[in-house]
Amino acid sequence: MTLEVEDLRIEIGGRPVVDGLSFAVPDGARLGLIGESGSGKSLTALAVLGLLPDAASATGSVRWNGREILGIPDRDLARLRGDEIGMVFQEPQTALNPIRTVGRQIGEPARIHRGASKREAATLAVELARLVALPDPERIVSRYPHQLSGGQRQRVALAMALACEPDLLIADEPTTALDVTIQAEMLELMMGLTAERGMSLVFVTHDLAVLARVATDAVVLERGRAVERGPVKRLLTAPEHPVTQGLLRDATATLWRAG
Ligand SMILES: Nc1ncnc2c1ncn2[C@@H]1O[C@H](COP(=O)(O)OP(=O)(O)OP(=O)(O)O)[C@@H](O)[C@H]1O
Ligand SMILES: [Mg+2]
Repeated sequence: MTLEVEDLRIEIGGRPVVDGLSFAVPDGARLGLIGESGSGKSLTALAVLGLLPDAASATGSVRWNGREILGIPDRDLARLRGDEIGMVFQEPQTALNPIRTVGRQIGEPARIHRGASKREAATLAVELARLVALPDPERIVSRYPHQLSGGQRQRVALAMALACEPDLLIADEPTTALDVTIQAEMLELMMGLTAERGMSLVFVTHDLAVLARVATDAVVLERGRAVERGPVKRLLTAPEHPVTQGLLRDATATLWRAG
C-alpha cells in the first residue's frame, strides 16, 4: 500500500499555495511534512484525502496503490477515506458530532464501510475505546464529546481513524492543541498502534521535536515547496536549509523551556 504524490500543485484564487510537491510513502513508512505556518502542509494532506476547500484546485498526481485518486469523484474517494486511509486532525472538536455519543461515532466507520450492525458497532466502539486507552471504556461510549477532555476527544478521533484498520494514517498536528504531557502520551499511543498494525503514517507538524518521535523521514516545506528532505535524524543533526535550521532552533528553544 503505497502513497505517491507527484508534482502536486494547489491554487487558491489563482495563487499557488502548494507548488510542485512530490513525495512517496511506501508500505509501513513514517513520513513527516514539516514547515512553518502557511507552508501548505494541511492543504497537501487535504488534497490526498480529497477534502480540499471548494476555492482550491489541485493538479499533479496522487496515487494510492498505483491508482490515481486526485480528482476522482467524491463518492469513490469517500470509500477510501476512513477505510484504507484514516485521518486525525488538529482540533478533534471539529471532527466530532456534538449531538452523538462518542461510542456511536467510534463505531460509525465500521457501519459505513463494513456494514456492521448497530450491536457490532457498539461492541467495536468499546474495544476501540479501550485500545486508545480511554478511561472506563464501557461507560465513556455513552457520553457526548463535550463531556470529555480535549485529550480524550483526540483519543476518540484516533479510535475512529483506526476503526477500519486503515493501511495509512494521515495526522495533521494531532497533538498541537493538547498540553505537553498529554501530547507525549498521545504521540506514544499513535506510534505504538501504527507500528503494531504495520500502518504507514503521514504526520503533519511545525515541531521538529514532535516529528523526531513519530517519523523516520521528513519533507520540509516553505511556501508550498519542498526545500529539504531526508531522515529526521539527519535534519536534527545537520540541517542544511535555513528553514530547517530555524525549525531546529525553535524545537531546541521549546525543549529548553520545558526543562
Ligand atoms: N480555505 C482557504 N482559503 C484561502 N486560503 C487558504 C485556505 N486554506 C489555506 N489557505 C492558504 O494556503 C496556504 C497554505 O495553508 P495550509 O493550511 O496548508 O498551511 P499549513 O502549513 O497547514 O499552516 P499551519 O501550520 O498554520 O496549519 C496559506 O497561505 C493559507 O493562508
Ligand atoms: Mg495546517
